[in-house]
Amino acid sequence: MRRKLAAGNWKMNGLRAQLSEIDAMQEAASGGSEVLICPPTTLLTEAVARAGHIEIGGQDCHARASGAHTGDVSAAMLADTGASYVILGHSERRTDHDEHDDEVRAKCKSAWEAGLKAVVCVGETLAEREASNTLDIIGGQLAGSIPDGATGHNLVVAYEPVWAIGTGKVPTTDQIGEVHDFIRARLERRFGAGVGRSVRLLYGGSVKPANAAEIFAVSNVDGALVGGASLKAADFVPIIEALNGASDG
Ligand code: 13P
Repeated sequence: MRRKLAAGNWKMNGLRAQLSEIDAMQEAASGGSEVLICPPTTLLTEAVARAGHIEIGGQDCHARASGAHTGDVSAAMLADTGASYVILGHSERRTDHDEHDDEVRAKCKSAWEAGLKAVVCVGETLAEREASNTLDIIGGQLAGSIPDGATGHNLVVAYEPVWAIGTGKVPTTDQIGEVHDFIRARLERRFGAGVGRSVRLLYGGSVKPANAAEIFAVSNVDGALVGGASLKAADFVPIIEALNGASDG
């Protein structure tokens, strides 16, 4: 009932030559799971032109549709390139740009108004996990970052422990399952069982070909948000294939 989703976040990586990697992902992208690549804004238009079976998304947007905001990009602008998704509230935005839940929520509303699907990111720091605050932090981020009006169509939630991003450290499958089950329960409580069960939940943080199958077997894991290993088809294709081969969690 929930279509699996393999999402790649290229972050601030990739010049035009990088787009050939998208071509090399096409075959795996027709294997059942939805595949999404979020390249830097400069590559969006060309990425959409050669997207084929792959969805294309942005990595952030401004909360307003237009105006005097030098250097920013609106959700309407992303949609105008042909992008269908946008990542919001990534921990690198929360840290580097001091983004808080209320701003992420405003961006999410704006994304929905522009017809984009939002991938809203949540995740605890190492200090928060060590203080046993993980579920409180995730609960607060969910409540604060997701506006009313979520559906299984317009929202994807990505659980990305900050300490697992780009570090090679991955939570245990029990730790991932605990957080994903918690997110599912919170979504069901707030939006009702039907909507709560239809929102896809991605795990993100050091997902690689070697650990993907194990992660995809965890309950309530509907796919992954992949950074470094989404830049090269040689790494991302085996992850997509692991997802295509995973049974429903
Ligand atoms: P890595 O896969 O490089 O750890 O990055 C994860 C991430 O932040 C995806 O948004």
